[in-house]
Amino acid sequence: MPLPPKPTSPAAPPSPLSRNDDQQRATIIVKAKAPSKAIEKFFAPCPRGLEGVLADELTALGAQKIEPTDGGVGFSGPYELGQRACYWSRVASRVLWQQADAEYRSEDDIYRLARAVDWPHLFASHLTIRVETNAIRSPLRSLDFVSLKVKDAIVDKFRAAMNSRPSVDTSMPDMRIFVFLTAYRATIYLDLAGEALFKRGYRRDGLAAPLRENLAAGMLLLKGWRGDKPLLDAMCGSGTILTEAALIAVNRAPGSQRTFAFEKLRFFDASRFKEIREASPIASRAIAEKLLFGNDINPAAIETTRRHLENVLGTEGARAVTLTQQRAEDIPRPAENGLLLTNPPYGERLDELAQLRAWYPSLGAWLKRELSGWTACFITADREFPSGVGFKPSKKTPLFNGALDCRLFEFQMYSGSKREPKPLPTGGIPLEHQRAHRE
Ligand SMILES: C[S@@+](CC[C@H](N)C(=O)[O-])C[C@H]1O[C@@H](n2cnc3c(N)ncnc32)[C@H](O)[C@@H]1O
Repeated sequence: MPLPPKPTSPAAPPSPLSRNDDQQRATIIVKAKAPSKAIEKFFAPCPRGLEGVLADELTALGAQKIEPTDGGVGFSGPYELGQRACYWSRVASRVLWQQADAEYRSEDDIYRLARAVDWPHLFASHLTIRVETNAIRSPLRSLDFVSLKVKDAIVDKFRAAMNSRPSVDTSMPDMRIFVFLTAYRATIYLDLAGEALFKRGYRRDGLAAPLRENLAAGMLLLKGWRGDKPLLDAMCGSGTILTEAALIAVNRAPGSQRTFAFEKLRFFDASRFKEIREASPIASRAIAEKLLFGNDINPAAIETTRRHLENVLGTEGARAVTLTQQRAEDIPRPAENGLLLTNPPYGERLDELAQLRAWYPSLGAWLKRELSGWTACFITADREFPSGVGFKPSKKTPLFNGALDCRLFEFQMYSGSKREPKPLPTGGIPLEHQRAHRE
């Protein structure tokens, strides 16, 4: 999972437990009351590289004290803002609600911190839980052991309050608790989302290698696409980019087809949440003709894309999207100008990469021939892609697609911007270009 802000100093102060009670009260902040108009703290993880886009979304939702950091954004606001962020953010992977925050030196300090949270007030004992710990420069040796201590603290708190306790479910828990450790500070969050927010609820069929939905939406927003100009995905696979674009174009909330963990909290107010759902910041609209264009060489991909579009737009609405099945390099110019955003195959095996690199020049020739006047963006793990197609990128943005360290290359397709493609080495994608994704 992407991690909350890094500490300003790695030095560990003395344990809060070595202080007297008054000092300790000053250090430990525990949130245990029912949500009110009070200002709460949140952290929303997102795919790395999209923190700025997420910060803009949260600003538009009314968040305060917005602090983008590597892999997410901290923010403040009333409790309801957390619900609105779950429902409306296209880029956040989760929305974590801060419950406690304090200095620590040992696992026992963290146990006490978790024990001080009024968990039975938050959710019922028949719900299942999972605790996950992430850390930057923590001196503690086992993060699993920290998770275990926090789970024990929650269970002990329930046992002290009533005769029953939540049980653990590591695959589909009702409540997820996240612990984040810096060198000397521990923060405990309750996840308001439940399943990760990129699971929108419209994906029914699995084709290989789909993009995460929040990465697709984030790239569209990063490129300033708001449903106002033609969009082409020339290699659409399961249609993630097009489906997210459809949601943006019709102003539909990305969370409108799913449920959230906060709906299981004790104080969940269904009628208030209905009001939040119905209070769209912008009126919804129908999808315009000749706005969305999708294409793939594989007929099964086109069928899947069609189904996903129907899941969000309805059968009638999806007809407004032009879907074709042919080679990308044969697509005729769809409109005078627009945005091409596409995710070509990666070629993780050596022979695949060799084939791909032999294909790039014909892709470059198509860009030059059919897409002059367009902005063309490709997300790929192959750093040699620009040389292969023969254009100098006007921008390259590092982004993670799952565990794959990618670049979003942007090319402004002015006529005459073509360079001679240079012959490329056809080796595998270097290991240093692949880093584990945290969420
Ligand atoms: C990495 S996948 C795209 C995944 C997609 N972004 C999604 O979220 O599902 C690449 C796609 O490119 C398609 N493809 C490969 N070569 C192609 C070509 N020459 N023309 C058009 N599509 C091609 C494949 O069929 C595959 O669906």
